[in-house]
This record gives sequence, C-alpha cells and structure tokens, in this order.
Amino acid sequence: MASLSVSVIVGLLVGSTIGVNNGLARTPQIGWVSSKKPKYPLVCSNPSHGCADTLENNWNSLGCDVSDSLLLDTSDKLVSSGLRDVGYTYVVLDDCWSAGRRDSDQWLLADRKKFPRGMKAVADDIHALGLLFGMYSSAGEMTCARFAGSLDFESQDAQAFASWGVDYLKYDNCYHMGRFGTPQISYNRYDVMWKALNATGRPILYSLSNWGEDYVHTWGMSLANSWRMSGDIYDAFTRPDALCSCGDAKDPHCIAPGTHCSVLSIMNRVSAFSDRAQPGGWNDLDMLEVGNGGMTDDEYKAHFSMWAALKSPLLMGHDLRTMSPTTLTILNNPAIIAISQDPLGLAVNLALRDTNVKKDKYGMGETHLWTGQLAGGDQVVILFNAADQDIHMSASLEEIFYYEGPEGSAPQAKQAWDVYDLWAGRMDIETAQKILVDDDDLRSREQLLKEANWYNSSAMSYKEGLKSGDPRLLGKKTSSIAAGGTLSVLVKRHSAEAFRLRNPGEKTARYSMAKDEL
Ligand code: GLA
Repeated sequence: MASLSVSVIVGLLVGSTIGVNNGLARTPQIGWVSSKKPKYPLVCSNPSHGCADTLENNWNSLGCDVSDSLLLDTSDKLVSSGLRDVGYTYVVLDDCWSAGRRDSDQWLLADRKKFPRGMKAVADDIHALGLLFGMYSSAGEMTCARFAGSLDFESQDAQAFASWGVDYLKYDNCYHMGRFGTPQISYNRYDVMWKALNATGRPILYSLSNWGEDYVHTWGMSLANSWRMSGDIYDAFTRPDALCSCGDAKDPHCIAPGTHCSVLSIMNRVSAFSDRAQPGGWNDLDMLEVGNGGMTDDEYKAHFSMWAALKSPLLMGHDLRTMSPTTLTILNNPAIIAISQDPLGLAVNLALRDTNVKKDKYGMGETHLWTGQLAGGDQVVILFNAADQDIHMSASLEEIFYYEGPEGSAPQAKQAWDVYDLWAGRMDIETAQKILVDDDDLRSREQLLKEANWYNSSAMSYKEGLKSGDPRLLGKKTSSIAAGGTLSVLVKRHSAEAFRLRNPGEKTARYSMAKDEL
C-alpha cells in the first residue's frame, strides 16, 4: 500500500501539467472486459439509450453471465495465451456483479451465487497472476442492468472498491436522475467519484462511460483517464442502425448517443476531436468486437488497427475461453500494440475522407487517410477502405504530413521515408493453434512463444523496446517513399493497410529531439 501511494505522488509530480494526473494510463489501458455479442434477447435495461423492451441490448449476453470462475478462467487464459505478456493486463468486470441491493449499513454487496468468495478474493487471485482488476458502477441510482448504482454513495463505494483491491473503475451513465444536459452538470456528477477515488489513496484508473454526452471530450481529461465518446459499439463494420445516433461529431442536437454503433460511425464521430487524446486521458471508442463473429478477418484487423492508432483503450470484448487462433493472431500483434503504447501519446487524425466510392448494401462507402506522429520522429499512416470495392489508394507526403504544415510546407514532406508494414509479422495460425491447446502445461506454451520470438512486454516495456528499435515492434520494411513522393497501395474492400514510416538515415532536428523524449 505504501508503494502505491508513492506512485500516486510521483504521478502528481511528473504529470503535473497534462492529463488527469493520477499517474495512471500514461498510455491507453489494455485488457479484457466482461462483455460480448448477444446470444439471446434481453429486457431493455437502459431506456435512455432509446431501446424498446423487446430489443436485444448489444452489450448483454456474457454480460449478466458473470462469475468468479469466468474472471479466473479468463485471467488464466490471458496468461497462457501470451496476451498478458503482450500487454493486456486489466481484467474488467462489467455490469451485473452485485446483489442488487445494499446491506443495512449501505455497503454494496456482491451477488453471492456469482461471487461466493466475495470480490476481494477475486482481486487477490487476479493480482497473483500479474494482472489488474477492474470493477463497474454507474453514476446513477441504478446501473444500466438495474443493480444498485453509486450516485450519492460515491465515497462509501470508492472505499469499498479500494478495500477489495480494485485497480480500475468503469463508471457508467444510466439512471442519472436527470443530472445531465450541460457539460457542467455532467462534470460535477462525475467529479464526485473522481474525488472519492482519490481520497482512498489507492491508484484506481477512472474510466467514464457517459457515451459522449455533454461534450465529455472537452472536460473528461480533467477528471478521468478515459471517456466513452459514443454509444455502445456493435459487431458491424459499416452497418448503420437507427439506435446509434450522433454519427456526425458536429451535430449539436445529439442527445441520445444510443447503441448499435458501427466501427465506421464511431470513427467518424471521433474524427473531430481525436486530438483530445493525451497521456493520462483517452477517447474511449468502446470495447473491441474482435472475435465476436460479426466481421471478417480484414474488418477486424482494420477495427483493431484504428482503435490502437486512435489511442482508444484496447479492451477485448469476446469470450477468451473459446477464442479462435485467428482471433489470437489479430489481438497479439505487437507492432500494432506498439502504436497504441507509443510514449508520445498522440492519436492519429483524419487527413482525407473520400465518399465518392462504391457504396455497400447499406448505402455506406468511403475511404480515409489517418496519420499521426509517433515518438522518435516516426509516423503512423493508415489507409482505410470502407468502400464496397478494392481500391488502389495513395497518400502523398504532403497529405501525410498535412498536420505538420499545410501545402507541403512540413519538413517531413521533403525527406525520404522507409515504409514498414505493421501486419507483416502476424503470428502464423499453426503457432496460435498450439498456444490455445487446452492443457495445463503452461511451460510448453511459454516455450512456444519463445520459439516464435514473440514480444514480451512484461520483460521489456514497449517504451524500452521502441527505444532499442526492436524489429518486432516496427513491422517489416516493405518499401520506401522518395522525398516529395507518394505512398500507393491496394487496399481491399472493408480493410485497412497500416504502416510505420521511419526516417531512413539522416536525422532531422525534430527526430533527434523526439528521440531524447523516448
Ligand atoms: C451501458 C454501457 C455498456 C455496458 C452496459 C452494462 O450500455 O455503455 O458498455 O457497460 O451499460 O449494462
């Protein structure tokens, strides 16, 4: 406990000018959350999302099916699959864990059937595996699934969470008793829990889930480590859905962010404020759908690449116990995770959007160029194709470095670059299959990961690995761009190509300066 308090103090000193300053989430949090695609229709739990009682709530399925054994089996799988060591350290329990009422002294109670040993024992077991434990509540009188919420009980609930050994709080927005409607009202409501968490003295990552309401991207960073900026994601790449509103970030009338938001709609919404991401405070694009079955392999790769490059928290939202080898080989790509965990902490921005392309059956179709700075003077570039056709896409250095200076004035547009493909080092399926074999021999799987030369961020952090130029984090060099030149590549329908651009030789002033930052 003493060392934890020291880390809070260090965080306050080191990060005294940016972010929420609790020393946590200096890079986006990564882990797993107990949510996935629905298997059966549920009673609508959150009318404020606009769903009707007979409709499926996208969130719930595994959702309310939470238990002690789910969390521990998932934690074991994180370790045995190598996902912990590639960076996924948070195990976050979402809604439906509580008994639905408080005890006579108003303390929250865990559901005894689901968690017979109580939450502290779960946290202890999770910690023993080298993982961190996340809990869930709502800034309302009830959670979205109608269990006891924390509104007006913040101090007592924060104390309970701290005493259980909680490291992370996902704090939702249902049943807020009308306390929303202006940024100030929402800010004040969420600020009470922020102060209560701080008062416990335990570092607890604070993750707001208020769906982008009341312009949270303008104030979230003052009191939280991340803030949901959209309605709930669902497992579709482009499909529009009436339950997801607010697809246009500039819509001032957006008051019901909803649910059933596609990957594309969330990207378009965040595009107007992607630059709000910063060390200690991140735009949360909602959990990952990779592995839930609704998208193709290409679509999942694009979804994962974009969430990493936009510096969203990367919380897997599928059932790890039944994970396929293909799913593992998407989520364990260290060259993509290195973009998420880049020490500079800047998100990509949208430089070009072209809607003059073939539309899919939903009438959706567009291509994007996303680009952003990385530590050491590198640049991440993503050519994103949501059109209903394969497209030869190109981006000139002028366009790629548009944010460094318009009309080709950026010095980076006038130099040559090496191009590294971030997916070229994807794990082969055979290795993934062997890793996922269901037996107790952890050592043989560790051996397999060693033989595959897989990146182990528990042994060497991403920051250190990037500093030393570890090739597993850079991707594979596939081409180069001459000074003033253009990057051209075939991007298949509903996919993305993701690259790291590196200065091939001579260092610019900015390069050596940024190198020191590492
Ligand atoms: C809301 C949140 C989801 C999930 C559910 C739980 O819909 O936005 O992420 O936590 O509630 O009921």
